[in-house]
Amino acid sequence: MPVLEPPALRHENPFRILMQDLADERAATVPYPPGETRFSLARTKRFIDEPLPLLLEGYERYGPIFTLRILHSRVVFMLGPEANHYIAVSHATNFRWRESHFRDLIALLGDGLLTTDDPYHKRSRQIMLPAFHRERIASSIGVMLEETERALEQWTPGERIDLYGWTRRLATRVAMKALFGIDPDGETARSIDAAALFEQALWFYASGYQFRFLRGPRTPWAQLQEASKRLNRMLYGEIARRRATGERGEDVLSLLLDAEDEAGERLTDMQIRDETMTLLFAGHDTTTSTVAFMFYELARHPHLADELVAEQRALLRDGRPSGEQLMGGELAQLEMTLEETLRKYPPAWIGPRKSVEAFEFGGHTVPANAYVDYSSWASHHLPDVFDEPEAFRPERFAVQARKRIPKGAYIPFGGGSRTCIGMRFGQLEVRTIATLIAQRYTLELPSDFALTYRQMPTISPREGLPMTVRLRSEKARSQGERVGERVGVQ
Ligand code: HEM
Repeated sequence: MPVLEPPALRHENPFRILMQDLADERAATVPYPPGETRFSLARTKRFIDEPLPLLLEGYERYGPIFTLRILHSRVVFMLGPEANHYIAVSHATNFRWRESHFRDLIALLGDGLLTTDDPYHKRSRQIMLPAFHRERIASSIGVMLEETERALEQWTPGERIDLYGWTRRLATRVAMKALFGIDPDGETARSIDAAALFEQALWFYASGYQFRFLRGPRTPWAQLQEASKRLNRMLYGEIARRRATGERGEDVLSLLLDAEDEAGERLTDMQIRDETMTLLFAGHDTTTSTVAFMFYELARHPHLADELVAEQRALLRDGRPSGEQLMGGELAQLEMTLEETLRKYPPAWIGPRKSVEAFEFGGHTVPANAYVDYSSWASHHLPDVFDEPEAFRPERFAVQARKRIPKGAYIPFGGGSRTCIGMRFGQLEVRTIATLIAQRYTLELPSDFALTYRQMPTISPREGLPMTVRLRSEKARSQGERVGERVGVQ
């Protein structure tokens, strides 16, 4: 039997969703875990502005499972290694993504891999997996190097740039080219600024919950619709062009155009749009935040940047990394720096779900149809799991130390059947961009810069990342070499 459509959402109107949530809560047959369950706008605002301390307080007070009322609804949070494993792996079939409190993303992404559940999700994943095989991803390094070098040409030593905005534009171009074979300078793509449109659309998710209820002109919802329409035009245009010309390549779009399931069914234009929009969104937003957070930490720990450079000078010919080098973990210092960045700042910081059946965890019950979330960000900051979690210490991921991290404790890419499909692509892209920036430049933060976060819904620096570009001096290079000798790079 072909699986042609995911189930319709129970409701799409925000007020009906609110009523349904309250009805689900009243219908609960078992109690919710303890927590802060009185209505509180202050708590709701805190959850938007600074969710990490709020969740860590909950963990300290109630343990690995607790309830917080966010706006009108009770949300159960499950934190820590066992909880992550329970939701993502051992009991994953008891949780659905689609009716989670991130369902608003469906307005932008449609029914792609991120927003659907099995069996539809399983079929989509089977269709797309071949495009994410190791060799295919390794071959994307050409585009990544070329685009990063091109983007770096825009920098002038001494100038102040917004590293976050710069990376978003770069990552959007890389995703378009490497994943979809769309020429970012071609006619279709040039007519729109995809990076800016994503920023506009995602602004909806950064707005307060109360504003997300609003419909009508100039609301965050209207902005999202407008941006989504324009991105659709580009994607549908490219789908139509490829169908008409029969042009195919090694990219995901080509794969989707020709994919057939076991019943010989092909994907419709809308299904292809939904999957490509999902990949375009997930494929640039997370990597953008990761690059920004990594250079934020490197600016605060210049000796770590020196160690990266020393390693490159020892291992890279002409400064250019190969796909194999970057995917095989040869640049160990870079690898540890990336892993620590993703520990401290996992961009996809929350795994939103809804329970199917009531269940028990950690001595507490959770009703059916409850919002249940895991959070990598909070789990990566539990002091009983990661020593001094606020400290940025790449050596946590040195070979022996890494073995001591408990199963389920470190989950920047999620887990189980929903593990990030773009993990290898994202890692390769961040490693490439980081390598090329670090070998040429030192990036400095303004002395008065204070990092605050915004979630849209991935976390990123709220005001972007202002950084001053300095040419990496010969002095710094030779210091780097000395550091390299100290850390044992040959
Ligand atoms: C540093 C980069 C990245 C990080 C940290 C990251 C993180 C994640 C996480 C945590 C999930 C699971 C969410 C959940 O459990 O609800 C996820 C899913 C997903 N990611 Fe990524 N991601 C990254 C890059 C990418 C890239 C480059 C792509 C596309 C090329 C991508 C596409 C997806 C898709 C389609 C899913 C849904 C998978 C499924 O449900 O089967 N991601 N990602």
